[in-house]
Amino acid sequence: MVEINPWSSDVSTDYARIIDQFGLEPVSLVDIPNPSLQHRRGIIFAHRELDNILQAHSRGDPFGVMTGLMPSGQMHLGHKMVIDQVRWFQEQGADVTIAVADLEANATRGISLAECRKVALEEYISNYVAMGLDPDKTHIYFQSMRPIVQRMGFTLGKKTNLSEFEAIYGFKGDTNLAHVQAPLVQAGDILHPQLDEYGGLRPIVVPVGVDQDPHLRLCRGLAAKTNWFNVNDRKKGGLRITVSVMDENQHVVSDAKNTFGQIVSTLKGLGYSDIMADAKHGICDLPAATSKDRYTIRMALLQLERSMGGQGLLQPSSTYHRFAIGMTGGKMSSSMPETTIFLNEDLAKMEKKFKRSFSGGQSTVEEHRRLGGNPDIDVAFQYLNFFFEEDDAALEEVRRGYVAGDILSGELKAMTIEKAATWLTNLGELRDQNAHLVNDFLAADARL
Ligand code: TRP
Repeated sequence: MVEINPWSSDVSTDYARIIDQFGLEPVSLVDIPNPSLQHRRGIIFAHRELDNILQAHSRGDPFGVMTGLMPSGQMHLGHKMVIDQVRWFQEQGADVTIAVADLEANATRGISLAECRKVALEEYISNYVAMGLDPDKTHIYFQSMRPIVQRMGFTLGKKTNLSEFEAIYGFKGDTNLAHVQAPLVQAGDILHPQLDEYGGLRPIVVPVGVDQDPHLRLCRGLAAKTNWFNVNDRKKGGLRITVSVMDENQHVVSDAKNTFGQIVSTLKGLGYSDIMADAKHGICDLPAATSKDRYTIRMALLQLERSMGGQGLLQPSSTYHRFAIGMTGGKMSSSMPETTIFLNEDLAKMEKKFKRSFSGGQSTVEEHRRLGGNPDIDVAFQYLNFFFEEDDAALEEVRRGYVAGDILSGELKAMTIEKAATWLTNLGELRDQNAHLVNDFLAADARL
């Protein structure tokens, strides 16, 4: 059993088992338009319902990307991995929503809301700006200042209970209640961009490390439990639509004839003619529909739900990335500065970290020439792979040279140091040049 919990410090790296155990889908490179470095190198290895996003993209329909930041400590290379994904989605046409998780940081790390604001602006948002997000298509807000997010968190709470939180997060009797609320607020973060005031119904993707998957499972479950209409595979082939009757909608949907009438006319509007509606048994079958049609049917039924007074929330999609190894060979963590490079690290310190970093080389030059190095466990190589060498052919050449023993560990480290220095210097300059834009990234309600 792989145990994953967003607040624990150890992380499993057995990705095949993670896919299996959490029911993720492997990412297939051929489906990704304009694949980024992270796609090409298998760094983004799994997803949930990315197809919704890809379908919206190929139809020219709107879609969004959502992430959140814990405004604690300094930004490092681990954070860069998420921002790179957000930027890639933005380049493909997504609008961007970013939550400053000040309530979560307050609940789980004891940081005051005022301190959260300072850190978010000075450390995080300035780096987001430097990393090339487009201020016109990026909306950053604070959890504590967006009432709708908290209100959604509260009302979604009705769809779960303490036992589920125990099972998902390992919460116990002594877990403080602010901590218990944090995942609900995060569900509000992830789902609220679909509300009409925040862009309306559209697929939203959340790129995360696997440690955050429990939040996504919870959020997807909560969204599904609010849905009035369900779309499932039909045993005999095709898709089956059923209606969920609950406190919130029984006054509307209990008129089955009217409800199914509206479902049928919605489906007709999509062009289906073979529709088998059975209001009495509460089912409507589409024998000719395939799983490819699921997305458009779901979207149409969510719109119908909205028109009938429901929330019409689509489950979020998600992508999962591998973790880069820490510089000392173990886990990368901001609480152990020697394991990572900070985005404002000075060059001499960066150089020292690489010189001391875990190497896949042999212990003597003679042995290295004879046996070659192991790039898979070599920090300098992996950091080229994950972060600093955009060119696949150039990376492959380095890999071959290292494996063959032609490139020594010291030489490999020197290459990586040079690339990292260029990147850090650039980033610093962009941070300074664009500092005046920080305010443009804040949503109106966050500018106060
Ligand atoms: N829990 C996330 C973290 O620990 C922060 C976060 C808050 C978040 N809201 C979010 C992440 C919404 C993704 C989407 O870093």
